[in-house]
Amino acid sequence: MKFFVDTADVNDIRELQDAGLIDGVTTNPSLIMKANRPMKEVIADICEVTEGPVSAEVTATDADEMIREGKILAEIADNVCIKVPLTLDGLKACRHLSDEGHMVNVTLCFSATQALLAAKAGATFISPFIGRLDDINLDGMALIADIRRIYDNYEFDTEILAASVRTINHVREAALIGADVATVPPATLKALVKHPLTDKGLEQFLADWQKTGQTIS
Ligand code: E4P
Repeated sequence: MKFFVDTADVNDIRELQDAGLIDGVTTNPSLIMKANRPMKEVIADICEVTEGPVSAEVTATDADEMIREGKILAEIADNVCIKVPLTLDGLKACRHLSDEGHMVNVTLCFSATQALLAAKAGATFISPFIGRLDDINLDGMALIADIRRIYDNYEFDTEILAASVRTINHVREAALIGADVATVPPATLKALVKHPLTDKGLEQFLADWQKTGQTIS
């Protein structure tokens, strides 16, 4: 399973990239707003930090304008993945941009049939939003499972990018189902490494080691 980090904070991205934990980055207009800098600058900086796909989202709502914006974003760096919303216009833009050889991430997916359409439109990634479905008492993980089954049935190459991931358990379950990628906020990604028994065990080992009076040299 690949991990993308879901943020536009370049410092967080650099830290996780240096630790070898991430394979790419996803941003959205809300994350760009938090970064409080011009979008093209932020995306360019992120693309310098990571070689993996960096999703940059269009903000137009009609297909022609999405295509125009998408091409501008794609010029920033070779690893920009153009993110379009799962609307009819978004799918038209996806088909066009994908046919021209661009990576496309179709976002805001909330149903398996939407995901089927995105795959048919040539999406590189489909982003089903787990957390936002859970927020309204629907089952985000069931959606990941449905999409996995449908994509396997028809051998689509579109990668399932589990998004709106909020918990360690979301990552675990998405991995068990076989999502290709999870995009995870920095804090949740860092939390994946933690276990109280690891901390306790390490503390004991170090204390015992000190008692031996030895050093490794
Ligand atoms: C992914 O591409 C989305 O930007 C993100 O995962 C949305 O997460 P949220 O529902 O926590 O805002």
